[in-house]
Amino acid sequence: MTVYEAIQRRRSYRHLENVEITDEIIDKLSRAVQLSPSCFNNQPWRYVFVRDPEKLKALYEVYSKGNEWTHDGSLVIAVTTRKEDDCVVGSREYYQFDTGLSVGQLLLQATELGLTAHPIAGFSPKKTRKVLHIPEDYEVITLIIVGKKAVGSPEEPAMPRKELKEIIFQDTFL
Ligand SMILES: Cc1cc2nc3c(=O)[nH]c(=O)nc-3n(C[C@H](O)[C@H](O)[C@H](O)COP(=O)(O)O)c2cc1C
Repeated sequence: MTVYEAIQRRRSYRHLENVEITDEIIDKLSRAVQLSPSCFNNQPWRYVFVRDPEKLKALYEVYSKGNEWTHDGSLVIAVTTRKEDDCVVGSREYYQFDTGLSVGQLLLQATELGLTAHPIAGFSPKKTRKVLHIPEDYEVITLIIVGKKAVGSPEEPAMPRKELKEIIFQDTFL
């Protein structure tokens, strides 16, 4: 699969079925994160990979209403970061930006592996911190729910995108 194809195929599916999370999968996703660029090569991200069924169940309490589909994830990845671990240039704080870049790489790698990796904001960072023993000074930016798109599940139409002319400018913004 080319990068182009991975970008085209990546989707945040909600109807998931169980998939075996092998060490090879964990390794490939981990290396996709490891090789991500960051300001001054600071690598401010810290990830917690959760595939133990008991821990996955313990996480049920952290999801917001409407995100119950997450219970069908086979792997949950908690993405954490700290401001003090990355560049601050004037008003620009790069820790969340750089951590987001690493998430982007992970999502595409998961796609190439035939998995769906769905980031969410609808969860309680406080409860997540407690369940996964994440230190207080790390922000829990997202949880990524990983699984396989369920066979025979209802269609999940692609979400609309803004027109290119709304988001991309040639040579000058205005
Ligand atoms: C930071 C972030 C937070 C999101 N939070 C949720 C969420 O709480 N629940 C959910 O079902 N999807 C969530 N999504 C998925 C988006 O709704 C989805 O990426 C968007 O609609 C585009 O669809 P696509 O990823 O299939 O292209 C989130 C995505 C991102 C990047």
